[in-house]
Amino acid sequence: MRRELPGVLLGVVMAVVLSGCIGPEQPVTNGDLDMNTPEYVFTYAENQAEDYPTTQGAYKFAELISQKTNGRILINVQAGGVLGDEKSVCEQLQFGGIDFMRMSLSPLAEFVPKLNVLQLPYLYRDADHMWQVLDGAIGRDFMNSFEGSNLVPLSWYDAGARNFYNSVRPIRKLEDMKGLKIRVQESEMMIGMVEALGASPAPMSYAEVYSALQTGVINGAENNWPSYESTSHYEVAKYYTIDEHNRVPELQLCSQPTWDKLSPADQEIIKECALESAEYERRLWSEREKKSEEKVRQAGCQIIELSPGEKQKFQDAVKPMYEKYCSDYMDIVDAIIDTGK
Ligand code: GCU
Repeated sequence: MRRELPGVLLGVVMAVVLSGCIGPEQPVTNGDLDMNTPEYVFTYAENQAEDYPTTQGAYKFAELISQKTNGRILINVQAGGVLGDEKSVCEQLQFGGIDFMRMSLSPLAEFVPKLNVLQLPYLYRDADHMWQVLDGAIGRDFMNSFEGSNLVPLSWYDAGARNFYNSVRPIRKLEDMKGLKIRVQESEMMIGMVEALGASPAPMSYAEVYSALQTGVINGAENNWPSYESTSHYEVAKYYTIDEHNRVPELQLCSQPTWDKLSPADQEIIKECALESAEYERRLWSEREKKSEEKVRQAGCQIIELSPGEKQKFQDAVKPMYEKYCSDYMDIVDAIIDTGK
């Protein structure tokens, strides 16, 4: 959202501040003031905590943009989900009520259905495989698939692999999923995934999960190590099974109406800063994954590794989902599977 700043007032305030800092002998020029007067102040929504890698990535993005535009474009990062859940923030992005966000691909696929392809269960062999896909031609093609969505994708952020956790029992085999009520993201495909695995899905927003676990409204959920740890879900659902059922990357997005107000040169700066911030986020991500795992292990959570045979049963159970949710894109699914082979 572009805010018309009271330029004169801001100039006066800054002149007072600057003269206080640098002393009267150093003249404050209009040039200085102009350079520091923002032309745009944009809002950026992030639903994770301040110290979380994606939030740190957002701050890096804001810092880079401010540097590269000499303070002409400012990004005001609002973390901790204060601007609302991902779905409603995304709706606001579509008409320019909020300018930027970082969003999990899973609810985003409700807006751009083709994105389901990129998060099919057990699609990638490992993290390297996913990054080869996202950083390569397939990833670029997906970035060009947002036509008509009123959203402009900027860069991929890492979110690791997701695992199931619950408060009832260790999940060691497929049958252990039976009867568990598992929270899923607000996504048709994730609802289908939990059903295919024999549990009962409960879609709800991220912020609601802790109290739903605590009060027993749900028995479990699924997420990556840093989310399991930073939300304290591990305190109320201590059985965590490493099945790595999917990798759901994140995207930094800009609102199309906001984007359209910017000059091509500013658009270019924003893209560059998004990419640079993504490199930063990915480094932080791999460090945080390890720390979070260590923390929940030390807290006494029971961490279960699926045997290869059991993992195969999970994979077989979700296989029909490929055709069910991505039948129009099976050529891309095959190309993803073949990447790096
Ligand atoms: C991850 C992701 C969030 C998302 C959450 C969820 O933590 O980073 O953006 O909201 O998963 O499970 O809803």
